[in-house]
Amino acid sequence: MLTRDNRIVLVNLIVVTIGATVPTGFEHTATEEVNEKIGVDARISKDRGRIYFPITTDKLSQVHLLRSVDNLFVVVKEYDSYQFKDSKEETLMELQQLASKLPWTNALEVWKLNCSLKKKKGNRKGGGGTKLKPNSETSDAVVADTEEQAPPEAVAAAEGRTNAENTPDTEACTQDSEESAAAAKLIKFRVTCSRAGDKHSFSSNEAARDFGGAVQEFFQWKADMTKFDIEVLLNIHNEEMVIGIALTEESLHRRNISHFGPTTLRSTLCYGMLRLCKPQASDIILDPMCGTGAIPLEGAIEFTDSFYIAGDNNDMAVNRTVNNICHIQKRRAGKSSASGLPIDTVRWDLCNLPIRTSSVDIIITDMPFGKRMGSKKRNWDLYPSCLREMARVCRPGSGKAVLLTQDKKCFAKAISRMGGLWRKLHTVWVNVGGLHAAVYLLKRTGLVFGQAPEEFHESPGKADIQSEEKGDAELS
Ligand SMILES: C[S@@+](CC[C@H](N)C(=O)[O-])C[C@H]1O[C@@H](n2cnc3c(N)ncnc32)[C@H](O)[C@@H]1O
Repeated sequence: MLTRDNRIVLVNLIVVTIGATVPTGFEHTATEEVNEKIGVDARISKDRGRIYFPITTDKLSQVHLLRSVDNLFVVVKEYDSYQFKDSKEETLMELQQLASKLPWTNALEVWKLNCSLKKKKGNRKGGGGTKLKPNSETSDAVVADTEEQAPPEAVAAAEGRTNAENTPDTEACTQDSEESAAAAKLIKFRVTCSRAGDKHSFSSNEAARDFGGAVQEFFQWKADMTKFDIEVLLNIHNEEMVIGIALTEESLHRRNISHFGPTTLRSTLCYGMLRLCKPQASDIILDPMCGTGAIPLEGAIEFTDSFYIAGDNNDMAVNRTVNNICHIQKRRAGKSSASGLPIDTVRWDLCNLPIRTSSVDIIITDMPFGKRMGSKKRNWDLYPSCLREMARVCRPGSGKAVLLTQDKKCFAKAISRMGGLWRKLHTVWVNVGGLHAAVYLLKRTGLVFGQAPEEFHESPGKADIQSEEKGDAELS
């Protein structure tokens, strides 16, 4: 590497595998982004919502700039087909023995590098000293205690410990000097186990507890559930097992939003939706039901050559959007990229937009599912009205819409009543907070608005609504 003063410095590059959780359904989008931005091929895990890709350590900071990934970790070891024993006792014993045999060195190097990158960014919360993730969905963890972020000497002690991997014997870890043992005690960790599959004889909690106990003994780290420096991940999906170390302490999907609403969409999912419609320079992009503005805000930050209009009929939603935009503007003030975000906010009713016919290139929105927002019954009127108004403002022949909804039946019926103004190009099935939802990519056909047969005023039959509500109950 050539430094600014032209000195050549040899850098030891390590190749490691990075794992990333991504919004379920948008795995391919994430692999495309990795290929574009990091220049490597990512593979999609059998366990939906995860991808893996190799990097050299000089690319680590770029990995944190990916927009489609929620959480990142470095892989310690992957087993495609781990033979779990039939009995719980034997399996747990094996997991305990595994802790001292794993190749920890490179992963811990990357964790250490990651800490120094975070320090450089001035981000000193978490990594060490983070709170338990509030939205941890499937995890169980090991143990407890408190304190501040690990000092450098503690990190060094961790490295010292990792060298013991070549002598896979817990004895090796207890032979360190008293000094490094004392420093090592300062490292706090927890093990988080996420597990899917019904053929396991053990629970996630038991796996985390026993594996964690062995990790603690091997490294002489201190277990702490809430303020940990290192989070060791034990991901088990049927017979697939991946052991990793977390590189993010808070999901990257929270990056843009400071003022949350009842149905704020993950920025990572917004990014996936935006990529589906491939924004071009000077495109006018509308989110007519913007809520907290998560979609247009992500667009205005990432696809900056387009212009975004965010609207909602709810005052509180509009205020939240304005506050979220202001928050980002403040964060950017003083930086070189401090130009204003290409976004405006309006209060409007989507069914009667103050926008000229055929003037919008892309409409991208997250429609009320009729659960936490609106109601299934109201959707039967809302969906056809809004699809029709969207068809009016969208450019015939070239315009597109990317619409997220969980109310699929109502949506399908509404589309079928649009007289061919919209054509469905593609559907991505996604998981939104545990709900099975769909993202539809629609193309505005060349039909002139106002000349299509208007069937949308027709009210749904009672039976339609009832069967839809029954379907929802089965889903949830
Ligand atoms: C699912 S939420 C959108 C959430 C948003 N994507 C976010 O991240 O916060 C749907 C939004 O549609 C708005 N809405 C419902 N009916 C509307 C209408 N007729 N015109 C404009 N907005 C409407 C609601 O106020 C709500 O904010």
